Amino acid sequence: MRILVVGTGAREHAICQSIAKDAELYSIMSKHNPGISRLSKFQISNENDIPTVEKYALENKIDMAIIGPEAPLEKGIVNSLEKIGIECVGPTQEAARIETDKEFMRNLFQDHNIKGSLVYKVFDNAQDAGKFIKDFNKDVVVKPIGLTGGKGVKIVGEHLRDAEDAKNYAKEIIDNKIGGHPKVVIEERLIGEEFTIQAMVDGDHIIPMPAVQDHPHAYEGDTGPITGGMGSYSDTNGLLPFLDQKNYSKSVKIMEETIKAIKTEVGPYKGILYGQFMLCNDGPRLVEYNARFGDPEAMNVIPLINTSLVGLCEDIVDGTLRKANFKPLATVCKYIVPKGYPLTNEGSNQVLKINEKKIYEEGALIYYAAVNQNNNEIYTSSSRALALVAMDDNIEDAEKICEASTQYVQGDVYHRRDVGTLKLIEKRIQHMQEIRTI
Ligand code: GLY
Repeated sequence: MRILVVGTGAREHAICQSIAKDAELYSIMSKHNPGISRLSKFQISNENDIPTVEKYALENKIDMAIIGPEAPLEKGIVNSLEKIGIECVGPTQEAARIETDKEFMRNLFQDHNIKGSLVYKVFDNAQDAGKFIKDFNKDVVVKPIGLTGGKGVKIVGEHLRDAEDAKNYAKEIIDNKIGGHPKVVIEERLIGEEFTIQAMVDGDHIIPMPAVQDHPHAYEGDTGPITGGMGSYSDTNGLLPFLDQKNYSKSVKIMEETIKAIKTEVGPYKGILYGQFMLCNDGPRLVEYNARFGDPEAMNVIPLINTSLVGLCEDIVDGTLRKANFKPLATVCKYIVPKGYPLTNEGSNQVLKINEKKIYEEGALIYYAAVNQNNNEIYTSSSRALALVAMDDNIEDAEKICEASTQYVQGDVYHRRDVGTLKLIEKRIQHMQEIRTI
């Protein structure tokens, strides 16, 4: 079987690593990712250029495509590839609106009575948005309705000082069509602990994967600017130290109901559904969906899959998804990022010295992200460079291996040493205990 993976980052490297075990692998990537290029025949092209992807897929007689990032999904890559007879792991443009159109997502919850939503309202008029923020009288989250590469969401108390700041940002979104539309979603601010559940979906059935917690802040102690995610961890039992089975199951039920509702509204959803939840004092609430694997969360769960990923992808497209096995191990992932990330590009275009042999000897895995291989050297860009992942019988040991492996990446880079540490996990548990008493 010939499988094409579309995408350039560590998430796609992890997908390719698993797929290459059981299929002939091809890839389209926008930069020369050294991890992916070793595993596949590849072309370096813009992954959002659908005619180019179609041409490459036809020339190479591709049977199935796996779409990594959200941007080509929004452009309708799945609709186009399916039209030329190539099955896809990834939702159609219409079903991907669960990520690309936040108004569609929130309305779906309301119209289908799906639990776990929150107070929200959508506006195309800055004055009305301002009045709602003033009358609401509690902290809000202000979001563009379309894609912004993770940079559009602003929260009062974090990125926005007060209601006045929130009103101004809502106006800016509408006036400048941030996210591609002159519309803004105002949501209540949730208090709790965030976690991610990713699930394989075949249109009707879902297989949820182990829960993961990401760390979006750039610096240790959950400080600094918001990034694409600096690292993440998962536990042996598929739950998290602050997330029990009951709340995990409630979250999965929300995802199942969402899949049913999407099918009713726009047709079946096939691919990976990423649910970002907040565990609040009254249970899990849905913060947002992504129509793809998470990054870094993909690197926690993909190495744990004990069933052929090619077989599971065939089940997704055939609508026969029933069962998958996961290794009962804890995982810790840490991203190595260039100096200045995410605020400046002062650390970009430097050569990294990576001792892969030592990293593997330490017991960790390497997934290359936003780097570019040129003449056998690996150059950074302004984004996350590579992810190191360790698996072990508990989070503490996995963290130690992961941390030890970071010494073998040399350059003007940094990472969060606290991801997966006992101290930070205890802080999460403590936070959850405090919330439960509210
Ligand atoms: N970890 C955040 C994301 O994948 O969008």
